[in-house]
Amino acid sequence: MMLDNERANFATKLGIILATAGSAVGLGNVWRFPYMAGQNGGAVFIVIYMLCVLLLGIPCMINEFIIGRHAYANTARAYRTISKSRGWMLIGYMSVLTGFLITGYYAVVSGWCLQYVWASLVGHLHGEPDYYKSYFASFSSDPVKPIFWLVIIMLMTYLIVKNGIRDGIERASKLFMPTLFILLVIIAVASCMLPGAHAGIEFLLKPNWSMINSDVFLSALGQSFYSLSIAMGCICTYASYFSKHTNLANSAIQISVIDSMVAILAGLMIFPAAFSVGVNPDSGPSLIFITLPNVFQQAFGEWPVVGYVISLMFYGLLTLAALTSLMSLVEVSTAFCQEEMKITRKAATLIVVSSATIIGVFCSFSLGAYDGLAFFGLSLFEIFDFVTGQIFLPVVGFLTSVYIGWFAPHKVVRDEFTNWGTLRGTYFHLYLLLVKYICPICIIFIFLHQFGLI
Ligand code: PHE
Repeated sequence: MMLDNERANFATKLGIILATAGSAVGLGNVWRFPYMAGQNGGAVFIVIYMLCVLLLGIPCMINEFIIGRHAYANTARAYRTISKSRGWMLIGYMSVLTGFLITGYYAVVSGWCLQYVWASLVGHLHGEPDYYKSYFASFSSDPVKPIFWLVIIMLMTYLIVKNGIRDGIERASKLFMPTLFILLVIIAVASCMLPGAHAGIEFLLKPNWSMINSDVFLSALGQSFYSLSIAMGCICTYASYFSKHTNLANSAIQISVIDSMVAILAGLMIFPAAFSVGVNPDSGPSLIFITLPNVFQQAFGEWPVVGYVISLMFYGLLTLAALTSLMSLVEVSTAFCQEEMKITRKAATLIVVSSATIIGVFCSFSLGAYDGLAFFGLSLFEIFDFVTGQIFLPVVGFLTSVYIGWFAPHKVVRDEFTNWGTLRGTYFHLYLLLVKYICPICIIFIFLHQFGLI
C-alpha cells in the first residue's frame, strides 16, 4: 500500500515506454504525417523527418525528462526546482497551461472518433461519397451529439487517470498500445492487399528529391515537435514518475522509433486503400472523418463484412490513439492540481476533467452549433489550436532548450543523463551541442515559418 506522501511512479520499464509513446502517438500520426510524407517526397521526406526527430525531437524530449525526473514533481514545480528561479518557473506554468488548454479541444476530436466507432457499429457509415461529407458536417455542428461523446471520452479518461499512475495510466497503456499496434498492422496489411494498392505504396514511399525545399524541411521540424508531445507538460510530467534507473536517452530513442513507426504504418493503411479506389487522400479531420470512411466502404465493398470490420477497427484504433494522448494531457494538470492545491488525486482529476470538458463544450459549439463563438474570423476551436500549437508550444520548447543548454546546473543535467555516472553517456556532448545551438535555432525557424515570415 502506498502512503499518501509517497509519490507514485511507473512500475516497469515497459510501462514507461508504452505510456510515453501513448502520449506521442495520437491523431497527428494518422492525419498529418502520412499526407505530408506522400506530398513531400515520400521516402526522402521520411528520412528528413527522422533527421528532425534526431536533431530536435529527441533532445527536446530528453530536456523534459531531465527536468521532470530531477524534481519528481508536477511540471510547474519541476521547472522551479531545477532553476530555483521565478523567471524560469514561468515556463513550467506556461507548459501546464498549454497542456490544459489543448485538453479541451483534443477531447472534442477524440469524442468524434468515439462517435464514429458507434456509427460503424450500427452501420451508419454507408452511402454515396457525398453522404460522408454531409454526415460529418451535420454531426460536428450538432449542439448535442458531439457534446455527448465529449463527455463520454472525458469520463473514460477520468476513470483511468483517477486510478493513478500504475493502476490507471500504466495499466491502460499496456493494454491500449499493443491493441492499437495490432489493429494498425491488420488494416495496413488488408489495405496493401487491395488491387492497385501498389500505387499508394509508391506515393508514400517513392523517393522524390525534387520535392524537397526549405518549406518541407520546416514542416517536418514542426511535425516532429508536435508528434512527440513536446512542450505541453506531458513528457515532463510522465518523467516525474520514472525510476532513477531509467536510461533517459535510450527511452527517448525508443519512444521516437515507436512514434515514427506508427506514423509510417498509418500511411500504409491509408494510401494503398485510397489509391485502390481512386480517391485523393487529404489531411486533417476531413481525412479521417470524410475521406477514409468512404475509401474503406468502397475498397472493401465486395466483402461488406470486411468493410464493416475494418471501419470499426479503424475508429477503434483512432480512439485508442486519442485516448492515450488525452490521458497524458489530463495528467499534466491533475498532477499540478493535486500537488499545488494539496488535494486527492480523485478530486484533482475531477476538477481537471470537468473544466476541460467545459472548454471542450465551447470549442465544439464554436464549430457550427453557435456561430457567436468566433473571433477574428476564427472559431474558438481554431483559436485554441492556433494559440497553443503555434505560439505557446514553440515558446515553451525554445525557452526549455535555452535553459537546459545555457543556464541549468551542468552537473544536474549530466547526472540525469548518465544516471549519476552509472551510464557511459557516450552521446552527452552531442546532446548538449544540439540543445545549446541546433534546437533553439530550429525552433525559431519553425516559429517564423508558421507565420509565413520565412
Ligand atoms: N503527439 C500527439 C499527436 O501526434 C499530439 C499531442 C500533443 C497529444 C501533446 C498530447 C499532447 O497527435
